[in-house]
Amino acid sequence: MNLDRLVAGLDIGSAKTTAVIAEVVGDLPKHPTVNILGVGQARTTGLRRGVVADIDETQRSITKAMQDAERMAGAQVESVYAGIAGEHVQAMTSTGIASVTGSEITRADVERANAVARAQAIPQDRELIHAIPQEYTVDKNIGIRDPIGMIGTRLETEMYLVTIGSSPAMNLRKAVERASYKVSELVLEPLASALSVLTDDEKELGVALVEMGAGTTDVAVFHEGKIRYLGTIGYGGLNVTGDIVHGLGVTQADAERLKEQYGAAYEPMVPHGEKIRLPSTGAQGDREIPRELLAHIIHQRTQEIFEIVLRHVEEAGLIKKLSAGVVVTGGAAAQPGTADLASDVFGTGARLGVPGEFLGGLADSVQSPRFSTVTGLVQYGAHRVAIGSGAGKGKRLSVGAATPSMDHLAARFKTWLQDFW
Ligand SMILES: Nc1ncnc2c1ncn2[C@@H]1O[C@H](COP(=O)(O)OP(=O)(O)OP(=O)(O)O)[C@@H](O)[C@H]1O
Ligand SMILES: [Mg+2]
Repeated sequence: MNLDRLVAGLDIGSAKTTAVIAEVVGDLPKHPTVNILGVGQARTTGLRRGVVADIDETQRSITKAMQDAERMAGAQVESVYAGIAGEHVQAMTSTGIASVTGSEITRADVERANAVARAQAIPQDRELIHAIPQEYTVDKNIGIRDPIGMIGTRLETEMYLVTIGSSPAMNLRKAVERASYKVSELVLEPLASALSVLTDDEKELGVALVEMGAGTTDVAVFHEGKIRYLGTIGYGGLNVTGDIVHGLGVTQADAERLKEQYGAAYEPMVPHGEKIRLPSTGAQGDREIPRELLAHIIHQRTQEIFEIVLRHVEEAGLIKKLSAGVVVTGGAAAQPGTADLASDVFGTGARLGVPGEFLGGLADSVQSPRFSTVTGLVQYGAHRVAIGSGAGKGKRLSVGAATPSMDHLAARFKTWLQDFW
């Protein structure tokens, strides 16, 4: 195990906190291979719709998830790539112009143009977390991916800027720090998930990633290899469970169990006439319902969530650009029939997104849609290690030697994520 090449991802969700520790083994900056060494999970109730509402409870879940992952990996880490999401996320495009100094465009010219685009005034109550170059214009030629080496006098960059609310960011950092870890970087959760479940071809052709978690459903749309839209809807698997509680008169825990054992998000999937027994109190007596009724409840709510997503994607003018269809992921997408329903609602092809590509080691243990975000966070961190800006975080368990920390450097270096998403 190379301790300088360990990365940790930490996904603090509304239902569970997940930690993954991995070793970066490849050097390809875009797709470094990672070997999964440890995975840890803890249930949590510390978040409300993606935002920390209870720091102590969130810290407890972080400590548990991280310690489990560390024990499994046989190594400790000092810092983590932590996911953030929620309705406080905003995205905008910004342009920057630089005059070309020499006869051909150099990296320095590109960085100047990018710096101008990034220098947008960010309101005091917001933080910039990602600045993603989208494309360049050299003189009058638009749509250039990599202008370095081209001839021209005027270079213009179009950049996608993602900002988050300062207070949700501060509370998340505080919870991680109280658990005695440093935050290398905060990473937008749907972008992390996109790294672990979308292919380059899908992003090129046009694809909507729909991540259904417990409290929220996050959306990221890509087209021509670029990020075009980000959004969050304040409904997820918890709302599905809530509908089952109300519709069938069962407890929250029983509703979760029914959903996982007998549920389907696409009603036509359930065989006609099949019955299920409901957990009941004495007064309720023995109760049996058609399994179709349970599927109906799940179908209705999931469809409603997808229709809101559809409206947002339509409003962004992107619905005709989804040649590669829709990829559904997140814990709630484990519900059978979720992709079939998405295909119906969006009128495109749809598939389930599960982490897998570029993963080695104990990859099996993260091959489920609820691990998309945390796996993507590790892949993001691996990218940082591969480009040399996120190294040196590991310590073998039981060996006391400390490794010098580079975190403060990594935190300050907000390099462009060129060609990454
Ligand atoms: N097999 C399954 N069938 C149906 N639903 C499931 C299944 N497994 C998990 N879920 C649902 O997925 C949700 C949890 O998803 P996930 O773990 O992605 O959420 P989270 O990341 O904690 O939350 P969020 O991203 O919204 O903050 C829960 O509502 C749970 O009921
Ligand atoms: Mg989540």
